[in-house]
This record gives sequence, structure tokens and C-alpha cells, in this order.
Amino acid sequence: MSDLHHLLTFPTRPIGQDYLTSLQEYLSSGIPSTYTLEQAAAFMKDGSDDVGESSSNTTPLHILARSLPLDLSQQETDVVLEMMNTLFEYGAGWNFIDYENKTIGDLLLERNQKRDGPLYSRVVEAGVTAELLHRKINGGEIEFIEDPTDVEPQVIEPTEEEIADHTADDQDTYLDTKLEYTEGFLVTKENRDGVMMDWETDIMDLAAKTICPPARELTVLNIGFGMGIIDGLIQSHHPHKHYICEAHPDVLAKMKADGWYDRPNVVVLEGRWQDSLNALLDEGTVFFDGIYYDTFSEHYDDMLDLYSVVVGLLKPDGVFSFFNGLGADRSLCYDVYRRIVALDVQDYGLECQYTTVPVTIDQQWHSVKRSYYNCNYYYHPRITFR
Ligand SMILES: C[S@@+](CC[C@H](N)C(=O)[O-])C[C@H]1O[C@@H](n2cnc3c(N)ncnc32)[C@H](O)[C@@H]1O
Repeated sequence: MSDLHHLLTFPTRPIGQDYLTSLQEYLSSGIPSTYTLEQAAAFMKDGSDDVGESSSNTTPLHILARSLPLDLSQQETDVVLEMMNTLFEYGAGWNFIDYENKTIGDLLLERNQKRDGPLYSRVVEAGVTAELLHRKINGGEIEFIEDPTDVEPQVIEPTEEEIADHTADDQDTYLDTKLEYTEGFLVTKENRDGVMMDWETDIMDLAAKTICPPARELTVLNIGFGMGIIDGLIQSHHPHKHYICEAHPDVLAKMKADGWYDRPNVVVLEGRWQDSLNALLDEGTVFFDGIYYDTFSEHYDDMLDLYSVVVGLLKPDGVFSFFNGLGADRSLCYDVYRRIVALDVQDYGLECQYTTVPVTIDQQWHSVKRSYYNCNYYYHPRITFR
């Protein structure tokens, strides 16, 4: 362990200004704020910092978070926050994964830090800043929603299996992939990627209530039929008109077989929303009290495109919501994306309010290949004009 790493284990108490001074000395003398335990171990072994096959990066911030005393006083918290600020100023990353597959956020929560407390919030803020900067550098291109590791190339590497399988990432591949409906699931036939699962029913119920406000002639739009869970729930609100936009031929066939095309208050928009909603916008005759978005194999830049369509199709007092799985495979990323969405919709004159609800995901994940949700809570978004 290097001197920097040792300092961050907080060997003496209380944690005072001397810690900050020492940290600044180490960093200004050239020790990288990203110097990992793995690099230190490699150096001890053969004098190089070649970490070989190691996929983990246990950074100084991980050591700090892991070593945080459980009885941290207010003054000590202030010093630790300053230490974190210093590490970030010197280029520390927010989303590295340590030797136990944990983020800095996971470790802070384990050490009794609160999600809305100053230390955890500081990591979230670093994530938001890094994402916005990344987007600027890449000319507006958004890459990290599907793979947050792109920001820091050494973080979690996808497995070979994941690389070979693009159904969840690439819309053309997905739309050419056969789907299968089974009890409680919609999955891709060959790879068993979960497209939709019935554990989301409570979330869909909340979403249906959100986008179906009391209205005289309720007109709503759902983008992405999947298992039709939310559409069934929307129907229970007796909408005057219920538009459903769906792109996948197998799903459209199922909708036909189940009689959705024959319902008098249902309008099926076949094809990708990018095509059919722009056509609706051009017509300028339909406006919605509620819009829900839950698709598959799309990316956050698709959502940014959608925001501009939503503001054109939503009534002034209408409500927009979406299935919020953004970054939900890691709790820290989920918190970062929560903030990013709230910031982004502001650019469209919208505001996003979240309700946090618990979720229980049962053993279903064992029969699908890739999980898209790993948090035991859900941030339900409700977006309206400001
Ligand atoms: C997760 S499922 C939706 C589940 C739905 N909320 C429910 O309650 O069952 C996603 C659906 O979006 C559809 N989809 C994916 N991309 C789309 C696009 N660009 N336009 C329209 N539908 C799309 C998929 O074919 C799939 O049926």
C-alpha cells in the first residue's frame, strides 16, 4: 500500500485539516489521484504498474469510502468532503469498480452515509459533471447510458457474450430478432434477453395513474406495447382515445391476435415512434393528456430526441412519464441519471419530479440472460411543463 493509500485509511482520529494538507502534498508531488491498489500491488511485485488482466480499479476514493469511520463527526465530515473535492480536482473518477465490484457510492452507503448526505451527493455531482462534460467533448453525443464504463475505459468490461449480442443495444438488430411471449415475460427468442417482465406491473400501474389525469376526453399515448401491461391499465381509466405506438412485428402480431386493433378507443401506430410521432406532429391535430415511453434497445440520445416530440404533442397541462431504468444496473449510476434527466428536461421547459417506490424483483432474472434492473427502489418520473 502506498503512503497515499495509507493516509486514506484514516489511521488516526479525529480526521482534521492535517489529512487535507497531507493529501494535497501527495497529489501535488505527482501521485495520481487515480493510483489504484492494483497498481500499487503490481509495483510491489515487479516494479511496474502493469495490472495485467485485473478488471478492478480500487482507487484512492474507494479506500477513503471503505475506511470511513461509522461515527464520523460533523467536523470530520467537512474535512472528508474537502478531501473528496481535492481528489476530484486532481482528476479522480466517479464510476470505477473496485476489487469487490463496488462503486464509491456503494461503499459510502455501507458506511452509513445517506443518499442525500454531502459525501454521496458529491460523488453523484461528479458523475453528472463528468457526463455533461463528456457530452460536450463528443459534440452532444451521449454514450454512457447503456455503458457507463465508456467514460472510464478501464471500468467494467462487457463479456464476450455481451459483445456478440447486440439485441439490447441496436434497434435494427432488435427489430429483426424473433421474440417469445412466455408466462410473465417477453424475451428475445434466441438470447433470452428480457424485453419486459411482469415484476414491473406495480410500476406500470403507477405510470398509468400518472399519465391518465382526470380529463373530460382523456387522450393518451403509450410508446412501446411489450406485454401490454400498461395498456391494459390505461384502458381501466376509460380513455376517450388511447394511442399505442409499437415497432416490432411480433408484438404487433400479438396485439392483433389479442384484439387491440378492434377496440373502438384504440389507435395503433405501427412502426418506430421516430417515424409515426413525427407524422402526428406534422398533422397537428392530436394532443395528449398523457404520454408514456418504455421501449427497448434505445439509448439516452433517443430520449433526448423524444423530449422535443413530447413538447410538441403534450397538452399544456399534460403529463409525460417513462420507464426509468436509466443506469439502474448500478445504484450510483441510477442516481446520476436521475439528476441528468431532471437537468435535460429543463431545456425543454419541462420539470421532472420523482417519487421513490420500493420494488421487489423475484427470481425471474435467472431465466433471462441480462438484467436491466438491479436496484430495490424505483424513481418514478412525472414530467410536466413548468
Ligand atoms: C419494455 S417493452 C414495453 C412494455 C410495456 N410498458 C408494458 O407495460 O408491457 C418495450 C416495447 O417497445 C417496443 N419498441 C422498441 N423500440 C421502439 C420504437 N423505436 N418505437 C416503438 N416501439 C418500440 C418494443 O418492441 C417493445 O414492445
